[in-house]
Amino acid sequence: WSQTAVKADGVLTVGGVPLPELVREHGSPAYVLDEADFRARAVAFRDAFADYDVFYAGKAFLCTTVARWLAEDGLSLDVCSGGELTVAERAGFPMAKVGFHGNNKTLGELERAVELGVGRIIVDSFHEIERLAAITTELGRTTGVMIRVTAGVEAHTHEYIATAHEDQKFGFSIASGDALEAVRRVHAAPGLRLLGLHSHIGSQIFDTAGFEVAARRVLALHAQVSEEIGVEMPEMDLGGGFGIAYTTQDDPSDPSQLATEMTKIVEHECRALGIAEPRLSIEPGRAIVGPSVCTVYEVGTVKEVALDGGARRSYVSVDGGMSDNIRTALYDADYSATIASRASDATPTLARVVGKHCEAGDIVVKDEFLPGDVAPGDLVAVPGTGAYCRSMASNYNHALRPPVIGVRDGKTFTVLRRETVADLLATDVGVS
Ligand code: LLP
Repeated sequence: WSQTAVKADGVLTVGGVPLPELVREHGSPAYVLDEADFRARAVAFRDAFADYDVFYAGKAFLCTTVARWLAEDGLSLDVCSGGELTVAERAGFPMAKVGFHGNNKTLGELERAVELGVGRIIVDSFHEIERLAAITTELGRTTGVMIRVTAGVEAHTHEYIATAHEDQKFGFSIASGDALEAVRRVHAAPGLRLLGLHSHIGSQIFDTAGFEVAARRVLALHAQVSEEIGVEMPEMDLGGGFGIAYTTQDDPSDPSQLATEMTKIVEHECRALGIAEPRLSIEPGRAIVGPSVCTVYEVGTVKEVALDGGARRSYVSVDGGMSDNIRTALYDADYSATIASRASDATPTLARVVGKHCEAGDIVVKDEFLPGDVAPGDLVAVPGTGAYCRSMASNYNHALRPPVIGVRDGKTFTVLRRETVADLLATDVGVS
């Protein structure tokens, strides 16, 4: 839960706004974004990693308002598409503090990034180095470049969100020598200023051992570049991926502790290699925005089914589902839920919170104990939905994507409005 969430007499209040009131005003389902919580987490990373540049990973959740908060609070921003770059531009985000990622950026996206003066473009393939070199020559511009490398680390997380083992699409392999070759090519291109190496090992990671192995391998390459090519790279990025607590079983990442551990690892390695420490940066997304949002839904139907062995489970259907939170279906993610609108003395019963989509896998919360009298009209809130929920939301079954409602000091404000049927139909040309 976000830091301002409190429950009294069964009513959940976030940012000083009781959720039943928020739903009366803005409807359901809705993502509720706690501004104070978001900014406190962003600032906590900024301050804990005071000697680093902290790039907020916009893929977790980005909109103009959030980009403005980040700019005001002095963070940098990682974008990974032309769309995210446009949001940064619209928010007036300082382009020198933007990093542009992606394994297949289009020519148009690369040109735009160079024209806007994006601080660093993280290159991910030989094709891209060639394209970017050509673009800078053509435009008569230069750009800062980082090289995404694959450290060959098995991060302990879901297969789809682990990114530093060899057999996946991102980065230049250190082991195969591709990473060193990429350094040579970037260094040789007149329009490309080689800033350093970039490593991101995966997402929702709790164990710093993976970061340690990756840092060691990337720093070894950093030293090799200096020795063999004679190039001193000023920077290095260690990526994001810091885990958050989705249920009470997880331990959230603590920025100060992370900073201490990562700094120690890098200092130790640099000393061992006899090299100067590069300026470091990180890219947390989930750890900043994840806990600062909860989703509020209204219950529409409740159905009880018998399980093998005689136990029972109630299926609590809400007015959203996999279109606003795909993570349960896609990554088998664990969430929790609570009734947000009233107190209940009823005995807790095993429940599954499901959506309204035409698909059996449309599950929001797999297992939760909810009061046995949960009924249509109740509001259910699911915490920890700030990261990769709205940003991965879809219009499956022609669902309207829910709004993001900011809350602060007892007031609500719309950050992203609810989609309308007109929005949906706008792309449907309807040839007769
Ligand atoms: N930097 C790079 C290069 C990344 O690829 C990512 C995430 C991040 C930073 C931020 O990672 P974070 O701190 O948010 O874990 N949709 C998946 C997560 C995909 C992560 C993609 N890259 C999920 O819902 O778990």
